[in-house]
Amino acid sequence: MKKLDILKYPDKRLKIVSKPVENFDKDFKEFVDNLIYTMYNSPAGVGIAAPQVNKHIRTIIVDASKYKHKYNKKNHGLLILSNPKIIAYDGEIIIREGCLSVPDYTGNVKRHYWIKVEAQDINGNTIEFDTEGFEAVVIQHELDHLDGKLFIDRVVSPKDIFRRKVYKK
Ligand code: NI
Repeated sequence: MKKLDILKYPDKRLKIVSKPVENFDKDFKEFVDNLIYTMYNSPAGVGIAAPQVNKHIRTIIVDASKYKHKYNKKNHGLLILSNPKIIAYDGEIIIREGCLSVPDYTGNVKRHYWIKVEAQDINGNTIEFDTEGFEAVVIQHELDHLDGKLFIDRVVSPKDIFRRKVYKK
């Protein structure tokens, strides 16, 4: 497995709208393995989207299980979601978000508190589940990447963007 290069804001390729995944073949699975490896080997890597490594397909990886947060009460562990859609939602939550593509800043963003998601798993089978709080926010954040949006496009107000403390390597 190898760590893939992450596009950084203001790279215009982060604005590309990604295409649906159609082939869940060997090449796709190999790419997904590298994407997972890249996420786990990045600071605070709780989620990553394929377009962040310049592959413009609708696949996101999420793993909220190791992240302590007051709204992270339950989660599904490692999620590999292709062609994800939010099919129902409820409530509101504002939490401080960060992004591997925007390493120097964090920001407060308003999201749905609870969501129901339909997606395809690593083999292309349709799955459906619901989640809430921190994991729901990470999924919404990653889903935005598939449509070329970053959290800084969604901050509540400009004063809700903050310079990030530097991570120790
Ligand atoms: Ni991001």
